[in-house]
Amino acid sequence: MAAGIDDITIYIPRLYIDAADFAKARGLDPEKLQKGLGVSQMAIVDTNQDPACLAANACLQIMQKNKLSPEDIGRLYVSTESSFDESKAMNSYVIGMLEQVYGQGAFEHCGGVETKFACVSGSYALYDNTNWIRAGEAEGKHALVVVSDIAKYDMGSSGEMTQGAGAVVMLLNDEPRLLAFDPKVTATSIKDEYDFYRPFGKETPIVHGQYSNLLYMIQVRKALEIYKKKALASGLMKLEPGETILDHMDYLNMHLPYSNMGKKALAYLVRHEWRQLPRWKKIIQEMGIPEPVPKDPRGTIESVLGDEEFMAKDHEFTKLFTKTREFQEVYEAKLASSLIASKMIGNLYTASLYLGFRSCLEFEYQKGIDLNGKRIGFGSYGSGSSAMVFSGTIQPQYEEIVKNMNLEAELAPRRKLTLQEYEILHENKLSPEESMLHTKREFVLVDVNTTVESRGERRYIFNE
Ligand code: COA
Repeated sequence: MAAGIDDITIYIPRLYIDAADFAKARGLDPEKLQKGLGVSQMAIVDTNQDPACLAANACLQIMQKNKLSPEDIGRLYVSTESSFDESKAMNSYVIGMLEQVYGQGAFEHCGGVETKFACVSGSYALYDNTNWIRAGEAEGKHALVVVSDIAKYDMGSSGEMTQGAGAVVMLLNDEPRLLAFDPKVTATSIKDEYDFYRPFGKETPIVHGQYSNLLYMIQVRKALEIYKKKALASGLMKLEPGETILDHMDYLNMHLPYSNMGKKALAYLVRHEWRQLPRWKKIIQEMGIPEPVPKDPRGTIESVLGDEEFMAKDHEFTKLFTKTREFQEVYEAKLASSLIASKMIGNLYTASLYLGFRSCLEFEYQKGIDLNGKRIGFGSYGSGSSAMVFSGTIQPQYEEIVKNMNLEAELAPRRKLTLQEYEILHENKLSPEESMLHTKREFVLVDVNTTVESRGERRYIFNE
């Protein structure tokens, strides 16, 4: 049975900070953000928004767009790493908000949980719900998987350049108009790590950014190796001599903590895949330098990072490699369109990969490419750490959805924050009723209870 993504909708907060303003305030070269990281704007939440609001707004949009009633929804999952309760799942807040519009008890029949594993949990939620559909348990109902996050880092930290906020919701069913997941190829890797984590009670994460970047690439590559075995064993792909698995993916959508990380990850995977192929010899000849080899052949993250000489040479090699015509062709054809939205919005943690997917569809379609039957490979990563590699094929009815995508129109009207306003918001100095914007027809947070007996209870309204 086919199962996959029928429709996708985004909800992005209307406030943002501009990378150039931010760089100026922090004494950084704006080029570091714009060219080095690929960050132009970062979406910021208002005082009356939390990740549950973002998720509920995205859900309402997709339901209204598709004229769905709560009866049509069998499962509602929320994946996030911006959770504000250790026990109550975020999907229950979302259901509470949706019931303000659809009537109390309207979603009573619906199941679901909040899932957590840093930025990868949305991919696990998609996989589990796809299998719920494949197993015939859905009985004609749809699943909603919402990925919603606020990427907030300590003021003055290097992570502060890679913030953002927003939610992406995907409607799953057995007749998906957008993308059917390829069966029996989903591959995972997992390892106990401390590259990025957020201990109880702390609003911002503890991040070892460079370590995390490298771990992301290593873990995704491990998952890709497993994917490769499964894709060949299941007959999904057949490699001719001189081919790699990546030649059989028309697009690659990667986890994007910032847009240039997608390019780094692509370069890493491509290098490893091409190394054994005749084309690699030609590229090395053209580049005129040998590919560096780490002193320790085990290639563990500790040994690689400890080998400073190798790291420096490898960095240089990667920079040169990404400038080769061969890499540029792969980059432009398979990845570049997926990075556009990330540059304008920033890091969405769990939602970053799916914002990239949405961006890929819109901007590839705008090139006039017929997307029917194209295969998208997904490289999902969550710190802590786990990676998931899977794929899907764009379906014949995709145009019905993609032709109406218009990122710029959906983001508008946006309001640029001054750095002073941004810092006030960052330090949580204002209450929900002191919001910067007064939005209409959206769910907003009204207050968070501070009494002993009801501490933490949140109240939301739908702003008519
Ligand atoms: N002009 C152009 N490019 C510049 C530049 C300038 N003036 N200054 C630096 N750059 C480039 C660097 O060469 C580097 O490019 P490269 O990655 O191709 O080498 C890039 O900008 C970033 O610079 P770097 O010095 O590596 O940045 P940093 O160490 O200060 O911080 C992160 C970068 C990403 C590590 C940091 O922002 C971070 O930790 N973010 C959070 C990441 C995250 O959330 N990870 C979690 C899970 S995946």
